[in-house]
Formats: sequence, structure tokens, C-alpha cells
Amino acid sequence: MTDSVSGPSPKLPITALGEMKRRLERIAAVTTYDFPSSQLADGAGVDVALVGDSAAMTVLGYDSTLPVTMDEMIMLTRAVVRGIRRAIVVADMPFGSFQVSNALAIANAVRFARDAGADAVKIEGAGPSADRARAIIDAGIPVMGHVGLTPQSVTKLGGYKAQGRTADAARRIADDAQALQDAGCFAVVLEAMPPPVAASITRSLTIPTIGIGAGPECDGQVLVWHDLLGLSTGHLPRFVKQYGDVGRAIATALSTYVSEVRRGQFPSAEHTYPMPDEEIRQFLADRY
Ligand code: KIV
Repeated sequence: MTDSVSGPSPKLPITALGEMKRRLERIAAVTTYDFPSSQLADGAGVDVALVGDSAAMTVLGYDSTLPVTMDEMIMLTRAVVRGIRRAIVVADMPFGSFQVSNALAIANAVRFARDAGADAVKIEGAGPSADRARAIIDAGIPVMGHVGLTPQSVTKLGGYKAQGRTADAARRIADDAQALQDAGCFAVVLEAMPPPVAASITRSLTIPTIGIGAGPECDGQVLVWHDLLGLSTGHLPRFVKQYGDVGRAIATALSTYVSEVRRGQFPSAEHTYPMPDEEIRQFLADRY
């Protein structure tokens, strides 16, 4: 983002999100997984670029988020960091990278911060995850929590379903969010829950909530890049608003290209390198 008076916007510190909550300014987050998309997101003024483990499905073609590895997430995070100037880059810790022990969680969070240049990491769940969050934060790396629908637990949850739809279930999510704040998280994602549940959690926490399928009263919103831009194939969750039809634009461009190549219409003279006639004549004369 460029400000005409002061030039390019400076890098946002992690503390900026808490300040935005206090000023009642909404936080805009989006998932990004590569260099060009992070440049575009940053240029649009997004506050948080989340290298989501949704990359497993959106860019790597797996059918859940579970198979994506640390090495794959590190490669994607490095590319995103190269494209970002202002936004806070949060790397999602993939399934298996933090569940086993605090020591493993710290070691993998350090890889994201030191080797990939992420500003923070995100971990799913509470309970033992709150303990992992505290350990990572004690090691000096900021952590974003994530409660409600946590896709790494999709098998346990019985599918990609909204959470917290009974008073008891809603209370458990609120307690989990509070535990993540108590552990020192700087923000928490609230995924797929009724708006009154997310609104009440948002009011009770001092850290910002970032909603996805959690209604308008969260402190910020996040959407998956491919869903937002119309690049996803298949059924979109109810909470997605598609802001563009980029997939259709790409398909049209590619089929035009294929057809022009087949018909010999591409490349035309304007897409080729000129050579003086005399040089061409000499070159061809030498050959035959
Ligand atoms: O991986 C992801 O994209 C996420 C967001 C949906 C919050 O965790």
C-alpha cells in the first residue's frame, strides 16, 4: 500500500491488531500461499496474510488439510514473506507439527520464524494446544489461536460443520478462546459458529477475534483466497462471499491461448525478435 504523503506503508507490528480492536477498526485478513498473491493482498491493504494449511486443499490438491507437511508449509511461507511489505504474516502450523510435545511445537514454530520469516504462527484448538501456544510464546514467537471448527480435527468433529450451536457447546468454545488469551495468544480465529456466540466471545476477550463463518461482530474477518476470488472448484461453504470470478477469467484466457496456438495465430510479429534482413540472408546462405 502506498500513501501519497509518506510513501510505502511500514510493516505492521503484531501489537497493531490489538490497537485496531481498541479503536474499533476492523481487521482484514486473507489466506495467501505464494509470492504474487501476497503482493496483491498486501497492495490491497490486507492486515494479516495467513499462510493457511488450507493450502493442502487449495494449492496442493489433497482432500483435507491433514497431509500437508512442515516442509511444504515452509516453502509456501517463504514465498509469501517475499511478497509482503506491510501485513503481518501468520504461518499455520500443520497437523502433526505441534500436537506431540511442547518441544516439537517450539522447534517447528522456530522454523517458521527463523527459516521462513513468518511474524507469527497459528495453531488449532485449545486444551493441550493452549499449552503449546504458551510454550511457543515463551520462546518468543507470537501465536494466533483457532477455535470452533478446527479442520485438523475434522474426523473427530464428524465433518466440516458449524460448532457451538447449543448453549453447552458455545460455552466450551468461549472457555477455549479465553484459555488461548490466558496463554498469551495475540488473536484468535473463530470459525463456523453462530454470530451471537462469536459476538459474546469478541466482547469478553481483550485480544482481537478474526471470524470466518462467525458473523459480523468479530474484530476482523478472514476468507480463503480461492473462495474469495472464485478460484475454488466444488461446493462453497455458506459463509463465503465470492468477490471475483478469477477462475472464469483464467479459463477464458487459457482456452483463447490454446485456440490461437492451434490456429497458428500466436505468436504474431509483435511477439518475436527482429533481425536485420542482411543477417538473415547470410545466416541462411551459410546453412544451405
Ligand atoms: O487454513 C486456513 O485457511 C485457516 C483459515 C480458514 C482460518 O485456518
